[in-house]
Parts: sequence; C-alpha cells; structure tokens
Amino acid sequence: MMVRVLFVCLGNICRSPMAEAVFQQMVNDAGRDDQIIVESAGTGAWHVGERAHSGTRAVLARHGIAYEGRAQQVSRSDMRDPDTIVVAMDNSNLRDLKRFGDHPHLYRLLDFATETTLREVPDPYYSGGFDNVYTLVVDGCRGLLSFVLDTYHLPPRK
Ligand code: 4NP
Repeated sequence: MMVRVLFVCLGNICRSPMAEAVFQQMVNDAGRDDQIIVESAGTGAWHVGERAHSGTRAVLARHGIAYEGRAQQVSRSDMRDPDTIVVAMDNSNLRDLKRFGDHPHLYRLLDFATETTLREVPDPYYSGGFDNVYTLVVDGCRGLLSFVLDTYHLPPRK
C-alpha cells in the first residue's frame, strides 16, 4: 500500500516545500520511501513553476537536505483522492482547502507537534524567520511520521 502525503501552504515556495523536503528525508531515513509518497503544493498559483524561496533553500542546505522541487498548485483531484493525507501549514490554508469540499484526511502540520504549543506555521515570506519555521516543521514532521505509520499500519521495513 502507498500513502501519499501532500503538504500545502499559500505559495508553495516557503513552508510546504520545506516540510516536503524534511519529511522526505525522515521517510528515507526510516526506509519507508517505498510506502510513502511525499509532495507539496500551494493554494495559490502565483509561483507555479518556481524553485523554492532562497530562505527555504538556505535552511535546507544548512541541514544537508537536498530539494529540487518546483511550485505547483493544489488541484481538485488532489482533494478528491482518499489515499492522500493533506497537511496544511496554517488556518488560512485549511479554510482554502475546505472550499474543495470535505476531505477525509485534512490536518495542520502542527497538530502533530509535541514541542510547541503553536498550531500554525508562521508565513516567512514577508518577515523571514526561516530557521524558526524549520524547527517547527521538524517537530510537526516527526509526529506526522509516527501518525502515518500507526494509522496506516505500514509493515516494518524488511
Ligand atoms: P508560503 O509563503 O505560503 O510558505 O510559500 C508565501 C509565498 C508567497 C506568497 C505568500 C506566502 N505570496 O504572496 O506571493
């Protein structure tokens, strides 16, 4: 069984690509890349086709994480796929996603965090703070990976 995790923010150049890259690294390290597909998208279309923001690329590079993805926009079919777990960065993303209709697996990343009481990843596009975003993303992604492995009963790696 393959599970797909789709991280969503507004522009798909700052927060959700960071979450995608961090989570992909965790999935790879756990030997689960044959069970979990990781992607990201934005609710908006302004940056479609662009590389991640330089702030996101710099933080990832500093942590030794490669990321080559290009921005894409969330589609109706993403939101119709019951095997996709959709993970929003903030309440505004959540509201925008709910306009596509009810989705059975729609969460906020920081619903899975254990080391912060924040439940929204702040948008660094205008005010920076990419290192803080990284810390929050790692916290949320750790909890999310446990959740996915537990919920979908993915068999342990051979
Ligand atoms: P992101 O950040 O949603 O984390 O990718 C933003 C990127 C672009 C814009 C806003 C937020 N924008 O207004 O273009």
